[in-house]
Amino acid sequence: MQIQFPSHFLWGAALSSYQCEGDNSNSDWYFWEKEKGLTNSASACKHYHLFDQDFKLASSLNLNSLRISLEWARIQPDAATFSQEEIAHYKEVIDALIKYNLKPIVTLHHFTNPIWFAKQGGWAETKNIDYFLKFLQKTVEAFKERVDLWIIFNEPLVYIYNSFICGIWPPGVKSLPQANKVLNNILAAHITGYQEIKKIYRDSNIQPQVSMAKSLRVFSPSPGFNFALNSLSAGLRSYFFNFRILNYLTKKNALDFIGLNYYCREFSKFKGLVGEESDYRPKGQRQNYLGWNVYAQGFYKLLKKLKRYNLPIIITENGTAEDKDSSYEDFLISHLKGLALAMKEGVDIRGYLWWSLMDNFEWDKGFGPRFGLTEVNYYTFERKIKPFAYTYGKICKDKKIII
Ligand code: BGC
Repeated sequence: MQIQFPSHFLWGAALSSYQCEGDNSNSDWYFWEKEKGLTNSASACKHYHLFDQDFKLASSLNLNSLRISLEWARIQPDAATFSQEEIAHYKEVIDALIKYNLKPIVTLHHFTNPIWFAKQGGWAETKNIDYFLKFLQKTVEAFKERVDLWIIFNEPLVYIYNSFICGIWPPGVKSLPQANKVLNNILAAHITGYQEIKKIYRDSNIQPQVSMAKSLRVFSPSPGFNFALNSLSAGLRSYFFNFRILNYLTKKNALDFIGLNYYCREFSKFKGLVGEESDYRPKGQRQNYLGWNVYAQGFYKLLKKLKRYNLPIIITENGTAEDKDSSYEDFLISHLKGLALAMKEGVDIRGYLWWSLMDNFEWDKGFGPRFGLTEVNYYTFERKIKPFAYTYGKICKDKKIII
């Protein structure tokens, strides 16, 4: 059966400033790489300078939207200064998107913080929320004529898990009470930020749509003699990781749509109250380059579950890192089929963004995993469109898929 997508459906890709721009030497991550002896993000993809050519390439693939993020540390190099030069730079970036008919979707916080903010205690300090809100006001004010789709935070729980529970991302803390405090602060910043954005557009005829990019995963129990307890853990993990924040923010009327980031399924096993991830992988099912269990059916299932929130959904990230082109293609098509089926069954999905437009800096994993529609040569900074990206480009053009 053929599914035709509406003409206004957003077909795009996503990226983040720190992972692509390069030389974000005022961000906490830059110091962390040095301190921990990790791969240095260095010039990354040089996207800070090459953004025009990157957007041209996205448009040559028939994309009509692109999710970017603003690097807070560039715009606010210290607590008392907003850099007019960097604001002008991002205006140019957004104007380039518009020039290539790519609808801008702008994220304000994608894992990184200015070093001065981190040094003052970062997200663990409630008083610091105001710094972020000032940054939000300044940037939304500056770009309000150009942008109507805003994501305040990217994946707060992924950030908190890696930075405050596992301690593998800056600031390298391992403390549940701190993690909880950070979560409360980020949620408070989201809710106030949401209201601030609405205020900023009060006298405008543009209606901003504001959300969060929320990572969702399918949690399945690891098989074995502990199956019943593992099922309990999978259920709890699914509630805490997937739905608790969505329930809370929708009750507070602080989401205009759901931004969904989906990658894979996790197998859970019983351990303590909330269990943990197991390394079980089912035979015959594909693992990606990072060992993640590829599970397109789960994408469909989650989309169906999200219907209960009665909000439009934009897939703000979906993608994979592979070492074979056929695996990218298989991932793309199987997930798009799941999406199309969910739409046919009444789920209100407004857009799909592949992670990522280009191969880029994958945090603690360096440059090994390649998620891009385009391959980046990290020596010459040349871009090469991957074969599966042409398939994606054709779907973006035809706006239809056979399921
Ligand atoms: C993040 C990206 C990351 C991607 C692949 C998402 O969770 O938003 O920054 O590169 O996953 O791991």
